[in-house]
Amino acid sequence: MSNATQIPEARDRAIDSEPQYIDAPMTASAAFLVLAINPGDRALETVRSVIGSTADLIKDIRGRANGETFTANVGIGHRIWLALTGKPEPKELTAFREIKGAKHTAVSTPGDLLYHIRAASTDLIIEFEKILLEAFGNAVTAVDDVAGFRYFDGRDLLEFVDGTANPDGLDLPAATLIGEEDPDYAGGSYVVVQKYLHNLAAWRAQTAETQEAIIGRTKFDNVELADASEGQKSHKTLCTITDDEGEHDILRDNMPFAVPGRGQYGTYFIGYSRHLWVIEKMLERMFIGDPPPLHDRILDYSTAVSGATFFVPPRQFLAELPD
Ligand code: HEM
Repeated sequence: MSNATQIPEARDRAIDSEPQYIDAPMTASAAFLVLAINPGDRALETVRSVIGSTADLIKDIRGRANGETFTANVGIGHRIWLALTGKPEPKELTAFREIKGAKHTAVSTPGDLLYHIRAASTDLIIEFEKILLEAFGNAVTAVDDVAGFRYFDGRDLLEFVDGTANPDGLDLPAATLIGEEDPDYAGGSYVVVQKYLHNLAAWRAQTAETQEAIIGRTKFDNVELADASEGQKSHKTLCTITDDEGEHDILRDNMPFAVPGRGQYGTYFIGYSRHLWVIEKMLERMFIGDPPPLHDRILDYSTAVSGATFFVPPRQFLAELPD
């Protein structure tokens, strides 16, 4: 084969698999907008067309953002995948599977589309959501819309720095983006979201040492504690998944959210992964325990009130959705 034919093919492959903004930096603001698609072909047509033009809407907002960070990712859920795209499903895509431990449950809740929006300031997010939802009209119903904010030096509302162990450099695409194991969806990523509400009074009643043992890091200076090899394990140890291939990382971009007047303080968990099973394994170890019934004690102070799984396809896939 000559170079002349090789180069366009390589370029086409790269365009086909160009990911959405999975690796965007952590921002001061974020929104997690979960939508259900209403019944009927008209609704599906509208949704296809709005998703197909999301890239343009992102550009429109960026054009008005004075150089500030603004990104948005679209995820599509299992229930609607075939009707919406007409294409076979990514290999691992399923609905969020409920996980019932002896004491705590990772609930599964509805959601066909996820918009994960990150920006330097909230006005950009609200403007994007306003224009987006006007375009969707009555084709969708909003299931949830959570506004996340950066809390001091990137802490969650349990007051620990959150996101430290995230992969970076070349480890980031290796952990988050599908490769040759599912070539039709190379450049895509699985994403799992869960909304947690904290019982802050009960958490505050614990000593800093107890809290640190639960998380697996020191509170003030964020230093990792040693992994326990047996008995009760910390959150960080339960979420470390290793096998013959080594450690399987995911990318988290959790955000605190709060409505103080209603006593609501929470963490919106979001995890991107090349392999859905890695996040499912983490959840199993957190909720069922390793060994059972030694669940993650973070759950004694944090209740999962939602849980949904989506696939975040490469950009070109969205642009080519049928009209
Ligand atoms: C209430 C919800 C949660 C809170 C407040 C929380 C908080 C934290 C904190 C403070 C750390 C240590 C610092 C860091 O490395 O980021 C951590 C680590 C981690 N968490 Fe969570 N987390 C939550 C839920 C989850 C869930 C649901 C998963 C996965 C399904 C998860 C996966 C991880 C992973 C993979 C690590 C890094 C482990 C390592 O050190 O390699 N977290 N989390």
